Amino acid sequence: MNVQTVSVLLSFILILALAAVFLRVRGLAHEGRDYAPVQGNAYRIRAFGFWFLILVGLPISIWLFRENPYTAEAAAPQVINVTGYQWYWELDQSEVAAGVPVEFRVTSADVNHGFGIYDAAGTLVAQTQAMPGYVNRLTHVFETPGTYQVLCLEYCGLVHHNMIAEIVVTEGGSDG
Ligand code: CUA
Repeated sequence: MNVQTVSVLLSFILILALAAVFLRVRGLAHEGRDYAPVQGNAYRIRAFGFWFLILVGLPISIWLFRENPYTAEAAAPQVINVTGYQWYWELDQSEVAAGVPVEFRVTSADVNHGFGIYDAAGTLVAQTQAMPGYVNRLTHVFETPGTYQVLCLEYCGLVHHNMIAEIVVTEGGSDG
């Protein structure tokens, strides 16, 4: 099971849990209750939520930030300029070497598009927004040679589904 499958399942379970809570509250809303015990419970839940976030949420956030994916601006020997159009991608080159950072400079000529790069197995490996009037920089190192697909990740009109481009990643050159 890859990360994407896990996150889909997790989201689904959390949505069901949220729906269950909502239905439970909706059911309870019809019963008359004294104010004081309800208030006591609410304060206990609030205190629990607060300490849960501090003791569990904070360490998880810190742990997740141990690797910042948005650095490495300095060394990107390969650059691909990308422009999104309704409804195609324009890449000023489509072949890069594996193992060497690639900097994508991504913009759009019309509306917002989502620039998503998928490997041969259909797993999303990197993504950023393609926005009109702004260049987003995305640095990625392709570790595995092969053909990658660029798909649009944001609904942008009738032929959104057909915004497909290819990037060929070749064996990394030993001389860099
Ligand atoms: Cu471009 Cu969806």
